[in-house]
Parts: sequence; C-alpha cells; structure tokens
Amino acid sequence: MGTEVNKKNYSKIILNFEKLKKFDQLYSALKKFSSNKELLNFSNFFRKVLINIFKKNFKLINTGMAIGLNNSIRTAYNWHQEKPYYPNKKTIHFQFPLLSPCNKKNGTMSVLLGSNNEGYIQSTKNIKKSKKSVNSFVPKDIKNFKKKYKEFFINMGKKDFVMFHENLIHRTNKNISPNIRLACILRFQGDYGFNIKKS
Ligand SMILES: [Fe+2]
Repeated sequence: MGTEVNKKNYSKIILNFEKLKKFDQLYSALKKFSSNKELLNFSNFFRKVLINIFKKNFKLINTGMAIGLNNSIRTAYNWHQEKPYYPNKKTIHFQFPLLSPCNKKNGTMSVLLGSNNEGYIQSTKNIKKSKKSVNSFVPKDIKNFKKKYKEFFINMGKKDFVMFHENLIHRTNKNISPNIRLACILRFQGDYGFNIKKS
C-alpha cells in the first residue's frame, strides 16, 4: 500500500526519496515532474539557446529523467545514439542535473567525443541489462568506436547543462555513490546545420 502520487505531493516524494526509498512512488513522481507545467515552461529557455545557436525554430518533443540509483544497472543506458529512437526526425538533446550535481561517482553520462561524425549508425544490437531495465540500441561496432573516440564524463554542477547531437554516442554510468542521481532530459526537434554524415 502506498500514497497515491498526485500534483500536490510529487515534489515532496522526490525530495524525501533518500529517506523513504519508495521506488514505485519515485517513478510516478518523476513522471509527474517531467510533464509538469513549470518544466515545460522552463524548456523555453533551452529553445532560446537553440534559436540563438542555429537561427532556426525548434519544438520540444519530450521530456524525461535519467535516474541513477545506487549500484543499480537497471536504469543505466549502455552506449547508444539518440537517432535510432527518432529515426525520422532531426533532434537535439539537453541534460541538466536535478537536486544535486552529476559526476563520475554518481554515474553521470559520458560521451565518445566526436563520435557524432559517424552519422547514424544503423547496425545496432538491442541490449537490455536485465528484464526490467531500459533498452539500449548499442552499435555493433562499439568496441572500435571506443578505441577511435575518447570517453569524456559530463560533470555538471547546479545551473550547468549539456547539449548534444543525436548521433553522439553516449551512455549513463553506474552510480557508486550512496545517493540517487537525477538528470532532466529535454529533447527538441528542429533543423540544424551540422549533421555530418560519413560517406
Ligand atoms: Fe541517450
């Protein structure tokens, strides 16, 4: 039996998670958070960032949350590009920390620097680390890509964010800190000029 997650209590549930450790409640609360009005309004900030850089209009396609539970691989994404999830759209992605910084210890995302130059890698293996875990489209040639491109960990403090290309190979890492790690995700669709394709 658990408290029903609603508009009034979801932020409290997220903030109190470390004390209560009620996972199902947390997932519902984060779902509520990722679709709340404030976050959607807040996305205008990132839309303006995009307009400033690309001089083109962008539209928010969805929001999400990267959840890093202590020592859990269930919510960790293996190496992937965003492109296979949105094959028919041109997309660009943002992540920023919620509540506490994102760092190597708490499993922040890492990227293979410059790997977006590979274009859309269509040859992927669908990997699920466990029955309940998230799905990753891992490039079949990932071993070579890892040799070719350097892994870089995205450290983000408060008010930092990362913007990344749909073809950048990235992953989330295992959280070896005792605390939960949360990162908000915003995805935009729009035209931009640096989609380099390998010929
Ligand atoms: Fe991703």
